[in-house]
Amino acid sequence: MTSILIIDDEVEVGNFLSHLFTSKGYKVRVVNSKKEFDAIDFDHHQFQGAMIDLKLPDANGLALLKHVKRRQPHCKVIIMTGYSTIKTAVEAMKLGASDYIEKPFDDIDLLEKQVDDLLVANGTSNEQRILDLATNVGLIVGHNEAMRQVIQTAYKVAGKHVNVLIGGETGTGKEVFARFIHQASQRCYESFIGVNCGALSESLLESELFGHEKGAFTGATQKRKGLFEIASKGTLFLDEIAEASTSIQVKLLRVLETREFMRVGGEQPLHTNARLLAATNEDLQEAVQQKKFREDLFYRLNVVHLEIPPLRDRKEDIPLLIEHFLKRYPSMEVSFSDGALEMLQSYEWPGNIRELSNYITRIVTFADSGHVNITADHLPFAKQRSVTLKKRTANDHTETPGTGMDNFIEKWRDDALSFYSKKEVINLEEVLAQLKQLESQLGKALVLQTLETTHGNRKEAAKRLQISMRKLRYLLNEKRNTE
Ligand SMILES: Nc1ncnc2c1ncn2[C@@H]1O[C@H](COP(=O)(O)OP(=O)(O)OP(=O)(O)O)[C@@H](O)[C@H]1O
Ligand SMILES: [Mg+2]
Repeated sequence: MTSILIIDDEVEVGNFLSHLFTSKGYKVRVVNSKKEFDAIDFDHHQFQGAMIDLKLPDANGLALLKHVKRRQPHCKVIIMTGYSTIKTAVEAMKLGASDYIEKPFDDIDLLEKQVDDLLVANGTSNEQRILDLATNVGLIVGHNEAMRQVIQTAYKVAGKHVNVLIGGETGTGKEVFARFIHQASQRCYESFIGVNCGALSESLLESELFGHEKGAFTGATQKRKGLFEIASKGTLFLDEIAEASTSIQVKLLRVLETREFMRVGGEQPLHTNARLLAATNEDLQEAVQQKKFREDLFYRLNVVHLEIPPLRDRKEDIPLLIEHFLKRYPSMEVSFSDGALEMLQSYEWPGNIRELSNYITRIVTFADSGHVNITADHLPFAKQRSVTLKKRTANDHTETPGTGMDNFIEKWRDDALSFYSKKEVINLEEVLAQLKQLESQLGKALVLQTLETTHGNRKEAAKRLQISMRKLRYLLNEKRNTE
């Protein structure tokens, strides 16, 4: 018989849960204090599940959680929490709790379902579900323990209506993580909409987020819905949140507090139920100290904090990631010598997974034929940089395209030159033809990426890319021709 332990100082809560679960056929043991908890004989009573109140007058719920997990590691624990202690509940999940539920319980069906799901599901099926969801969004989990922990926590909080702040250096996969959370939530059939707070001017970002009424400003010829409205049933991803101006921060805080907002030029408050995820590669806490970021907004956004480790701290996953990126080129057969792999693993990867992905693209682009065997000799850049690289700082964007185009192109050129310096014969015509191809591929990719942020609005995309509509159509048509 499945046995559940309930720890809550409120006698009525204990009685209620006891009734609920006894009627469902579970065996229930309720304790109302630390003293009663200490009297439990864990050697002779196996619990499959436990529900622990975080706030007990004579004990800390986290300490009881640790005790239960130490004595009975297979026991699945649900933390019971009030809104003010959700952050601690998330900490509890990092310590091994499987889930948390908010008190007072306002949805008994949900409570029953949470407990049933937990007790029926076994660990491996959960793991498999995480892997399936991750594959869906193109996220390689790998073997690194820190990364696995982060993804576990992300999975556990995905279904909750709490804001999540995703931190991590550039290119570590913050956006992919946000997509994973959306995919793992009940909102997965609704839209996931991302907006880059650093890429738009203050006024554009404001009307993008909140929408505007007709005539709100010059050029506002029509009413337009904002992202808080469009993503009301889905997920809104605020990328580079540290870049949001003070005035946008105030407006964001208001929506987070009241779930209400007004379109620019509007007078009617509108309601939003959007789930908010935010990302930053800056140290937001430091920005708060320097008074660049509002503290109250920080706490609202940072209910759950996920920090994605840099690639240099999860080098064991590099071969797996390479394999993943090579799958984009099914006609290519690329193998790496042990020496080459070792060198790739000793490189610091300041641009993280994005840099690795670009690197693979480069190898494939410059390959002479469908078969390439990469040896350490092919990797001069890795050799030089693994020695000279300094630890990357939050403001150092030189490795990524878009943030330092000149440096990016220069690096690309240097890499290409050192790659070809190892070859005796080079077919330059072919190389130049491939570069032309790369140019149009990059153009297409940027158009598609921009169209995603403008929700398919081609005019807006052309404006942001500073190209004519004709050019945009040309690039898109070209995409169809080559597909
Ligand atoms: N775990 C992963 N598995 C596979 N690909 C990944 C993973 N993480 C990131 N990537 C790939 O690396 C690239 C960068 O990821 P993403 O855009 O999510 O990073 P980011 O942290 O948001 O970067 P930035 O701070 O520069 O915006 C993308 O092409 C993404 O598909
Ligand atoms: Mg990003």
